[in-house]
Amino acid sequence: MEPPSSARAILLFRTTTLVICSFLLLALVHLVVFPNDLELQEEVFASSSSSPCSSSNGATTSGGQLAAAATQPQPVDVRVFLGVLTMPGMYERRAHLRLAYSLQPRPVRAVVDVHYVFCNLDKEEDRVLVAMEIIAHGDILVVNCTETMDAAKTYAYFSAVARLFAGDDERYDFVGKTDDDTHYRLAALADALRDKPRDSMYHGLLNPCHTTLEWQYMSGMGYVVSWDMAEWIATTDETIRNDQGWEDEVFGRWIRKAGKLKNVYGEEPRMYDYWDREMPTEVNCFRHEHVADTVAVHKLKDRLKWARTLYFFNATKGLKPSKMYDVDRLNSNMYRV
Ligand SMILES: *[C@@H]1O[C@H](CO)[C@@H](O)[C@H](O)[C@H]1NC(C)=O
Ligand SMILES: *[C@@H]1O[C@H](CO)[C@@H](O)[C@H](O)[C@H]1NC(C)=O
Repeated sequence: MEPPSSARAILLFRTTTLVICSFLLLALVHLVVFPNDLELQEEVFASSSSSPCSSSNGATTSGGQLAAAATQPQPVDVRVFLGVLTMPGMYERRAHLRLAYSLQPRPVRAVVDVHYVFCNLDKEEDRVLVAMEIIAHGDILVVNCTETMDAAKTYAYFSAVARLFAGDDERYDFVGKTDDDTHYRLAALADALRDKPRDSMYHGLLNPCHTTLEWQYMSGMGYVVSWDMAEWIATTDETIRNDQGWEDEVFGRWIRKAGKLKNVYGEEPRMYDYWDREMPTEVNCFRHEHVADTVAVHKLKDRLKWARTLYFFNATKGLKPSKMYDVDRLNSNMYRV
């Protein structure tokens, strides 16, 4: 038996009210219990994520749904996998990099996934400590290689990435490789790559700079290639894999052999080696002081260089006044470039 229509309407009204009230109550509880949830989720998304291709826009985390509905997130139109090639023992360096990337402004309409990459773990302590890092951060990629300065690790990295994500629906457009003494500004990188072709693309700082030599290649500080290049590396033959020499120059040779030296973008002067007035060296085409629209700074070999660089890019701007520390004292003695 169907209830009369007025009774049905009342029933429907009551059910709807109940659902809405439950939802609002849940939302309220969520906001009270996790007031910083939205912020935290966004930071995690901006720096790295262990399942990068699972979200189609910038605000799909559960905590972000209310905000997302209100602000209409823009669809992602560039996806980058950026591997920081480092070694297991570089714990402090990884801590600096993670801090720096988590405090950067979030890239807009872009996914830039930063992962720390090393060869097989062969020390007992690293197996334990790195396992803990993986649990806490989920941003480590271990590839099958041995630590050397030749191109074996570069080869292992690009082919591992190509194989790992080959079947994904939302594939990365670009794959990058960088050093652990380089600081990329991820939003600037995403903006630089957004309009670039999705094939035969090679982006970085041309080395040697200011030359007409045939054999220019992208400096090892960091370079990004289109997905087809990573795929090509993963399926290429032994002769190229065994090409000996300085890894980044070798990489340039691979690209030439692949016939993919087409869409080449040198990012001078927005990618450069660190320099400040206290250094005895001269400024040149690959080394100069910080610039505001930087894509990447390289040769951050010690804590002071990291500190000056991050200070220049306003990494400490978010520091709130508190009884717990003296902000003015923390900032007043900083060197200004
Ligand atoms: C790792 O690389 C070595 C040397 O190339 C190879 O013999 C071995 O089978 C590889 N291991 C895996 C798990 O792929
Ligand atoms: C840092 O912040 C200051 C003050 O808001 C601003 O003038 C400057 O352009 C910022 N620097 C960079 C590199 O964005």
